Parts: sequence; C-alpha cells; structure tokens
Amino acid sequence: ERTFRIAPSILSADFARLGDEVKAVIDGGADFIHFDVMDNHYVPNLTFGPMICQAVKPYCKKADGTPVPLDVHLMVEPVDELATQFAKAGADYITFHPDASKHVDRTIQLIRSLGCKPGLVFNPATPLSWLEYTLKNIDIVMLMSVNPGFGGQSFIESTISKLGYARSLIDVQVAMGGNPVLLEVDGGVKTDNIRRIAEAGADTFVAGSAIFGKPDYAVVVAQMRDELAL
Ligand code: DX5
Ligand code: ZN
Repeated sequence: ERTFRIAPSILSADFARLGDEVKAVIDGGADFIHFDVMDNHYVPNLTFGPMICQAVKPYCKKADGTPVPLDVHLMVEPVDELATQFAKAGADYITFHPDASKHVDRTIQLIRSLGCKPGLVFNPATPLSWLEYTLKNIDIVMLMSVNPGFGGQSFIESTISKLGYARSLIDVQVAMGGNPVLLEVDGGVKTDNIRRIAEAGADTFVAGSAIFGKPDYAVVVAQMRDELAL
C-alpha cells in the first residue's frame, strides 16, 4: 500500500544523448527524473545548468503524455539565484542543502512562490534539526547516503537509522493532519539494498549508476520494484 518512486539520476547517463537517455529511462518505468546540479563550489564537481534542464524538460513525459516530475537537486552555494533559474527551466521539485543558504526559510518560500515543490537535502553528517521549523513548509526531505559530488559511491550505513528518524518526524506530521512529505534517499542505491532502505523509511529512491550502468534500464527498474514489493 505504500507508494514507492524510482528517480533515476541522469548524472550517470550518456550526456551526448541526453534526451534519448531520459526517454529510455522513462520508458523503462522511471517515476521522477533526478537532475544533479553541481557548481564546483558547494561540491568539488561541475555538471549542468538551467539551459540543459530546459533542453531535457520536453522529454520528461511518458509515451501517453503524462508528465514525469523533474527533481532538481541543487548542490550549489548560494542557492536562490539558481533556484529561480531552474524554476523557469521547468523544475518540478527543487531541493537544496540548508547549509548552503543563509536564509533557509526564505529560500523555501522563494521556491514555492516560483510554483515548484521545495525540499531540503541533508549530507551524511548534517543533523535533521533543520526540520524542526521547516518540515511543514516543504514537500520532500532527501537524505544523502553518500557525500555529494559524484555518482558511483557506496551507500553509507548510518543513513539507515537517520531514515528511521526522518520517517518518524514525517509520520507524526501526517498523523496531525499535515503534509505527507516525501522521504527520498540519494547515493549508492542498488537492487541489492533498496528493500532494506525502504524498510528503514524511504519512499523515493535516487539511483544513477545502478540504472545507467546497465544496458536495459527497464530490467533494473523492474528488479527494484520487485524488491520493493516483497
Ligand atoms: C551525488 C548525487 C547523486 C548521484 C547518485 O552527489 O546527488 O544523485 O548521482 O548516484 P549513484 O546512484 O551512482 O550513487
Ligand atoms: Zn542527487
């Protein structure tokens, strides 16, 4: 009865054929497209900006035309100017690292005012205390299960207990009639650990190398769903 979402990270896609890659992974069953923005400042790597987001946006739909949400993960500092540009470029969700914004509540309100769904992202060592005054105002909480900056790293085990804590905060909010915030996990998610991560409380799963590293994306997504159905 829980709804799970698979969010392939196009960080591990073939950038020379990005539109086709997005289409292929959506045909393969992706629920979200995860878009990793790195600025060589907040993280030691550089990826893509709003222009690429805008180019990818028309591909973010299923064969029947149903839109597939574009989940933009900003690993940038400062946040506000780029959040504005990504909203204009077609982002649906915009998540940012609270430690990268001087005024976290203002950034949340800005993203909301631009018509997008705001979320906070927590690095492995970042405490969830930021949620005390923000959880009711956001639509997604994302826990990094690797240190941000690169695809293909191993899942950090302490994320499991942290997910449990985030799950309990969200469940309390929902029990009091509040917003059913998504709990997303990002980094090192594979077919062989996704079930355990779901049991810990996650409902939305970013996976880059595990999906784009295989020849048939539909097979990997189906394997992940099988694990989640067990
Ligand atoms: C890391 C990115 C992740 C990454 C996940 O900074 O935020 O989204 O691409 O890649 P895998 O699934 O390969 O760990
Ligand atoms: Zn990410």
